[in-house]
Parts: sequence; C-alpha cells; structure tokens
Amino acid sequence: MTVVGTFGLSVRDQALEADVQAGLAAVEEGLLEATKSEVPFITEAAQHLVRAGGKRFRPLLVTLAAQFGDPYAPGIVPSAVVVELTHLATLYHDDVMDEADVRRGVPSANQRWGNSVAVLTGDFLFARASHILADLGPDAVRIQAEAFERLVTGQILETAGPADGRDPVDHYLDVLGGKTGSLIAVACRFGAMMSGADETVVDVLTQYGERLGVAFQLADDVLDIASDSRESGKTPGTDLREGIPTLPVLRLRERAELLGLPEDKELVDLLDSDLADDERLAEAISRLRTHPALDQARRDTVRYAEEARAALAPLPECEAKSALVELCDAVVHRAG
Ligand code: IPE
Ligand code: IPE
Ligand code: MG
Ligand code: MG
Repeated sequence: MTVVGTFGLSVRDQALEADVQAGLAAVEEGLLEATKSEVPFITEAAQHLVRAGGKRFRPLLVTLAAQFGDPYAPGIVPSAVVVELTHLATLYHDDVMDEADVRRGVPSANQRWGNSVAVLTGDFLFARASHILADLGPDAVRIQAEAFERLVTGQILETAGPADGRDPVDHYLDVLGGKTGSLIAVACRFGAMMSGADETVVDVLTQYGERLGVAFQLADDVLDIASDSRESGKTPGTDLREGIPTLPVLRLRERAELLGLPEDKELVDLLDSDLADDERLAEAISRLRTHPALDQARRDTVRYAEEARAALAPLPECEAKSALVELCDAVVHRAG
C-alpha cells in the first residue's frame, strides 16, 4: 500500500501506482511549462500558487479515470494540466472575491500584489489553459466551455443568493454543483474520454465526478469551520466572515427556526453581526465547532459521497475503481 500524490490516496496495486505517479509528475512539469511567460513578473505571479503546493485532486482524478481505456494515450496529461490550470485560475479570482489572505499556506496573490494582479494572473492562466485545450479538439473545448460557464454561474449565484421563495439549501446545493462539481466532473470525463474509454464509462465517471465534487465542496465548507490553517493552508472562518451561507450555517438557521432555542438564536445573531472583529469570529468558529448543525452538515457530506460511490456501480471491478471508491471516503475525512 503506497500513498500516491499529495491527496493522500493509498494504492495497493503497483502498476496503478506507477501510472498515477508518472501521470502526476508529467502534470507537474506541464504546469510549470504552461505558467512561463516572457515577462518574468507574470511567471512569478502565475507560478506563485503552483509552487505553493495544493492537493492536485483534479489531476489525480484524470489519471484514475484514464485507467478505463489506454492510460498512456497522449491527451491525458495535457487535459489534466488544463483542468488544474482552470482550477488554479479560479483560486486567484476566488481569493479576490472572498478577500482571502492565505492560500496553499502562502499569502494569496491578492494579498501579495493586489486585486488587479490577482485577477489578471487568473486571466493569464485561463488563456494558457485554452491554448493547450485547442490541441485536444473541439469536443474538449466545448466540454470545458460548458463547465466553465457553470462554474462562473455558481460563483455568481453564491454571491447573489437565492431567488425569492427558493429554499436556501436547494439554492446552495445548486451553487456547489456549478462552482465545484462541474470542473471535477470534467476531470473524470477528460481522463476517460482521452483514454478512449467506452461512451457509457465516460458518462458513469462524469456522474461520479459531479457528485464527488459536491461532497468535496461540502467537506471544504465544514473545514472552513473545523480545521486550522496549518492543515487547510487557508484562514479558518473565511466563509463566515464573508457571510457566505455554507451548509453548516444553513442547517443552524433551519434548526433555530424549527426549535426556537435561545442558544441557537444567539449564535445566528453572532453570525449576522460584523465578523471583521477577530474575537467575534473566533467565538463564532468555536461555538459552531461543537454545534449539532456542523454534524448535520457532515452527514449531508457523507450522503453525497455515498451517491458518488453508487454512481460507480456499473463499472467493472478493478484497482482503479477501488481507488475511486476510496476517494469517496477520503474527501469526507480529509483534514485539509
Ligand atoms: C479549493 O480546492 C476550492 C474548492 C473547490 C473547495 P482544493 O481544495 O482542491 O484546493 P487545492 O488545489 O488543494 O489548493
Ligand atoms: C471555491 O469556493 C470554488 C471555486 C474556486 C470555483 P470556496 O470559496 O469555498 O473555496 P475556498 O475555501 O476559498 O478554497
Ligand atoms: Mg474562497
Ligand atoms: Mg468562494
């Protein structure tokens, strides 16, 4: 049993392990190559977060999904680079939107160079992703464009909030499908598609990725409250401070309405107050950490991860399938 990559997935089979390691190493090279500019400052800004680390969860999914066809097919590594570059670009932009100071354990680009540089570096990364994508053919371009549209729509709908009369939890789950499920689904789809896997296998893996992506984001939202920055490489409570109504907070609000308990109401009031103040934010985090609403959000996360696992049922039993099954647990139980 060896742990491969930085996500912490353990793989039993040596051949699979070798393929995944080789794939991830090639992606790493591809990322450094794709982020080089003739302007040294752009290279520095674009490679800032590449070099800072990150879990490379999406490239891992591409390499695993590619096991259902020819895992050495030429489009696999470039498609993984495209997906990670797209993800990276959205992180540069997201940290501007969320006014986040820390990312991957280092100062965010907006903190280091200001919002304009962060936004433009994100755009540069999208441009480089498009360039690589052009060689992967029109279908790949279309798939990426559709996912990117969904991702951006998710980010906008998160900012806009639910329409009048819409259930906030339903709205929020749609947001997650858009902002995170879409690209993780593409990671699985590209891996399978580029390897020449059967159409039905491509569809199954796409479904799996969509559900896994929602579970991954739900876990991330729990970690905003439950983890510390050494593990997550981010500042805890960023969502709370920004007033982003993540599932733990939505579950708390539901509960406060339903049960009318004064301690719940007090916590809702605290969350609705100005959390720019460090002490108030620390108090909100500490109360939420032991609140049943956080456990409820954890259960919701497990439910989505189980749906992802169920989506894999039609696939033949193999080492790659076992690894994808294991990821359903790993996304829920990760610490960062
Ligand atoms: C962060 O993604 C944004 C979310 C969709 C939750 P990751 O948790 O994959 O971030 P890195 O790539 O490991 O930094
Ligand atoms: C990030 O969402 C989703 C995208 C970048 C599309 P979050 O705002 O929840 O992610 P973190 O917590 O900053 O990584
Ligand atoms: Mg954010
Ligand atoms: Mg955000």
